[in-house]
Amino acid sequence: MASADQLAERLHAVRDRTLALIDPLDPDWVGRTPDPIMSPPAWDLAHIAAYEELWLVTHLSDDAPLHPDLQATYDAFETPRAVRGDIRILDGAESRDYMDAVRIRALAVLQGADLSPSGPPLTADGFVWDMVAQHEAQHDETLLQTLQLMPAGTYSPCAGALPPGTTGSCTPDPVDIEGGTLVMGCSSGGALDCEGPVHHRSVAPFRMDRAPVTIGRHLEFIRDGGYADARFWSAEGWAWRVSQDVEAPLHWQPDGAGGWTRTWFGCTEAVDPAEILCHISFHEAEAHARWAGARLPTEHEWEFAARHDPARADDAWAPWGAASHDGRANLGQVAFRPSRVGAYPDGVAPSGCAHMVGDVWEWTSTEFDAYPGFRPFPYPEYAEPFFRAGYRVLRGGSWATQSVAARATFRNWDLPERRQIFSGVRLAWDTA
Ligand code: AVJ
Ligand code: FE
Repeated sequence: MASADQLAERLHAVRDRTLALIDPLDPDWVGRTPDPIMSPPAWDLAHIAAYEELWLVTHLSDDAPLHPDLQATYDAFETPRAVRGDIRILDGAESRDYMDAVRIRALAVLQGADLSPSGPPLTADGFVWDMVAQHEAQHDETLLQTLQLMPAGTYSPCAGALPPGTTGSCTPDPVDIEGGTLVMGCSSGGALDCEGPVHHRSVAPFRMDRAPVTIGRHLEFIRDGGYADARFWSAEGWAWRVSQDVEAPLHWQPDGAGGWTRTWFGCTEAVDPAEILCHISFHEAEAHARWAGARLPTEHEWEFAARHDPARADDAWAPWGAASHDGRANLGQVAFRPSRVGAYPDGVAPSGCAHMVGDVWEWTSTEFDAYPGFRPFPYPEYAEPFFRAGYRVLRGGSWATQSVAARATFRNWDLPERRQIFSGVRLAWDTA
């Protein structure tokens, strides 16, 4: 069971990341968005504070909100991204003050809280504090997508190094997976409502690549005319490609000599063939798979490959079992990029698949929907409005995901045309 100190430490760790992310940003851009599909960074900051205030202060004490007039402004449904650049919002400094003031009150409430597993479901075992820490971590990832879209010269993060991995473009290296019964989902330890309830799911035999598609393989798809050949694309995907004039992943440019560069947080560099491919839409993922004679995995195949362990009755939380993420996955914004294939030999799942958690969110063929017996908790707007509304499930977390939100059961979703997210793909095949 989590103690108050451990929960406070989780909140602090994510807050340190949020502040470290924003710190190098040109102050002129804190209140502006580079793209209407994203929010101004200052909106995310005050929204993080408003969400924390709602769940850790207002719901758990008699304290009133600090900015009652701004509740609607920071409600994601009442104020969608498209208008956040045009309305009055708190500026960067005001948002930081709001975050600090809420945190002081939230920690005071936490000190007196009942965390016992037999208490009310909202607070039992510290659930709501984990939910709030994960919410901030999710917005850190959103902030990074916004920062990645900022004009050159406005943002340069301080990035560390990753383990080396292999070189070269890595042709498909599939493993045959026998299938069986997956104990799918999770409904404890900070898992969010759409991850449950836990249920049994039978998975037919399939074949899956040991690693996500690399940049080198995608360069082969490009050179083979993959972006110009409608046969590889769905009708919807082809219409999107043509209307947006897409010829390569987001943030890539031709280098003038037949190759490609990419702009990565303001820095333009040659692409590395061994690195895991990032910034592709669902449509591009599908086209690449069809070109390769493969398909996208379903969500349950993905989860089976990530955590099914024939040696355990309940399937694992992470591909590598109960050990910490350290040294086993590219999580936590270490280098601001995906790793090269082979960088994490200690993170391989029992199935033989590597890089399942961290590096890039992996598109699946599954449309986002409820698991059987789903109950929204603690509020209906987290996942339910997005069920059966054209969103596709992504799995595994990315280099930008923090460990508090990294689990082999975590479900992410987005529209099939989106690619500002840190998204890639892993190939799967039917077994004959
Ligand atoms: C689960 C990443 C799709 O960013 O829209 C943040 C997470 N929910 N605030 C999103 C979320 C409420 C959500 N995703
Ligand atoms: Fe949010």
